[in-house]
Amino acid sequence: MIPKRIGVFDSGVGGISVLGNLIDSKAFDEIIYYGDTARVPYGTRSKETIIQYSLEALDFFKQFKLDLLVVACNTISAHGLGAMQKATDYPIIGVIEPGVLALTNNLQNKNAKILVLGTKATIQSQLYQTLLKDQGYSCINGLATSLFVPLVEEGIFDGKILESVMEYYFKDYIEKPDAIILGCTHFPLISKAIANYFQNQFPKLEKSILIHSGIAIMEYLKTKYTLQTSKTHSKVTFYASDNLEKLKKTADLWLQTIK
Ligand code: DGL
Repeated sequence: MIPKRIGVFDSGVGGISVLGNLIDSKAFDEIIYYGDTARVPYGTRSKETIIQYSLEALDFFKQFKLDLLVVACNTISAHGLGAMQKATDYPIIGVIEPGVLALTNNLQNKNAKILVLGTKATIQSQLYQTLLKDQGYSCINGLATSLFVPLVEEGIFDGKILESVMEYYFKDYIEKPDAIILGCTHFPLISKAIANYFQNQFPKLEKSILIHSGIAIMEYLKTKYTLQTSKTHSKVTFYASDNLEKLKKTADLWLQTIK
C-alpha cells in the first residue's frame, strides 16, 4: 500500500511541527490535519481521558477513508495509540517508536547520556525510557517540562522568560546530555534555545544530538512504505474542535519558523 491520503492528529497545534516534515516530503496527495483545540492540553490529563479523547478523534476521521493516520503528538502516542490501533482497520503510527529508532540511528554509544523531554503524561508513561532500555541504552533521564507547552503556544521561542524556565528545569544537570529527545511536538519550536542552553553551560563539549518527532516519523515512514514523491505539494486541510482560524494562523507561523 502506498499511503496517499493521510490524517494527522494532535491534541491541538503541536502536530504542526510534524506536519511540516510530512508536507516537505511531497509524498502525500492529501493531508487532513485535526487538532482537538477545544480540549488541549492532553499532557496534564490521565491515561483514561487521553484514551477516550483519542478514540473520539477516530470518529472524526471516519468520514475521510484514510490510508494512514499519523499521531503527531507524543502524549497520545504514549497513551492512546494502542487503543486507537485496535479500533481501526487502517494503519496508525505514533511518534515515539520512530523517535527511538532515529536515536539508535544517530547514537551508537549505549552509555551515552540521554535526556527525554516531554509532557507529564508522556514522561510518566515511561514509554520512551522502556523502549530506549530495550535498545541497550543505560543512562536515560525523563524530564517533564510541561511549561514549555504554553510558552510555545504564546509564540515565545526565545528570550528571558524561556531562559528562566529552562534554568528552572535544567539547573540540576551538571553533565551535558549527549542526546536530547524532543518528546513533545511543541518543542522543535524551541529546539535552538534548548541546544544553546546546554551549549552555553558546557561550551567545550560536543553539541547534543536533538531528536525531532517530525524528522523521525518521515525516516520511519520511508522504511515502512514505498513513498513516491510528487512534483506538487500535498493538499492540506485543517480541522479543529475549536477556533479553526487560530489553528490556521499558528500553522502559518510555525511552518515558516521551523523551515
Ligand atoms: N504536543 C503534545 C505532545 O507531543 C503536547 C501538548 C499537550 O499537552 O496536549 O505531547
